[in-house]
Amino acid sequence: MKILITGSNGMLGHDLIEVLKDSHELILTTSKTLDITDENHVLDFISQSKPDVVINAAAYTDVDGCEQNQELAYAVNSEGVRNLALACRQVDCALVHISTDYVFDGSATEPIGEDGEIGPISVYGKSKLKAEQAIEEILDKFYIVRTAWLYGINGKNFPKTMLELAENHSQITVVYDEVGTPTYTPDLAGAIFKLIETDYYGIYHITNSDYCSWCEFARYIFEIAGKDVKVIPVTASEFARPAPRPSYSVLENKNWIDKGFKPLRSYKDAIKEYIELIK
Ligand SMILES: NC(=O)c1ccc[n+]([C@@H]2O[C@H](COP(=O)([O-])OP(=O)(O)OC[C@H]3O[C@@H](n4cnc5c(N)ncnc54)[C@H](OP(=O)(O)O)[C@@H]3O)[C@@H](O)[C@H]2O)c1
Repeated sequence: MKILITGSNGMLGHDLIEVLKDSHELILTTSKTLDITDENHVLDFISQSKPDVVINAAAYTDVDGCEQNQELAYAVNSEGVRNLALACRQVDCALVHISTDYVFDGSATEPIGEDGEIGPISVYGKSKLKAEQAIEEILDKFYIVRTAWLYGINGKNFPKTMLELAENHSQITVVYDEVGTPTYTPDLAGAIFKLIETDYYGIYHITNSDYCSWCEFARYIFEIAGKDVKVIPVTASEFARPAPRPSYSVLENKNWIDKGFKPLRSYKDAIKEYIELIK
């Protein structure tokens, strides 16, 4: 297939390329070559390149930054995606869009299925939800993939930050009252690879298996990296940040399993592989 990837320089974009490059023809775009907020360019570019699938890995992902730069958040995360959906409709190709657990408000107490009640509490979450709604309104051929707590080789992420802090800290404070599922970008990219080979359109929750709090995740990272760092649990309100985060956003990968796919491996196995790779 001919697959166009937006945001191909990003953390997920990097692993999508790795996973897809040997079996598909890729058209790689970045914010410089295809700014998704530029409606005319998006329409022209996609109508000329005529991909079979567009994978949108572009977003304004600075969750706290989104609170301060709301216009930019909605321009990229909502309008940009709307532009892609319009362009995909024009050439009748499918759109894979990556969304987030932050479309939920955090009040759930058990893993949330795709039809769980949405209610974003941050500008980032609201801007991502608006994109989902635009896609559903414009397209029939779409895969909306909600995922969570991403980390990979090519980007800033929580495990990397923890390991950097371990270099010159003997103790750190980490939030314990936010629970979710850390997800390794190569695993997510592999799942997207499988999904686009089907016509099982719809909304999917795709994360690694199992779940933890940030605090538990930090402790596990230090344990397997062999770092002697004391992790002091704090509440999210003690660890003030501009954007509120859901306190519980574990995603049940229901649609994925119902369609016959195997659950992704546990986050504990994935992080072991990642740490082995970067150390
Ligand atoms: N990171 C997480 O924990 C997480 C969790 C759940 C869902 N997600 C979603 O997963 C997807 C991938 O996330 P990621 O962590 O891989 O993101 P990332 O590393 O921040 O990459 C995002 C990419 O989007 C590009 N971009 C920004 N504005 C653009 C524009 N106007 N036009 C075209 N490209 C633009 C950026 O390019 P420049 O660098 O050139 O600006 C960057 O390469 C996003 O949709 C995100 O919302 C992420």
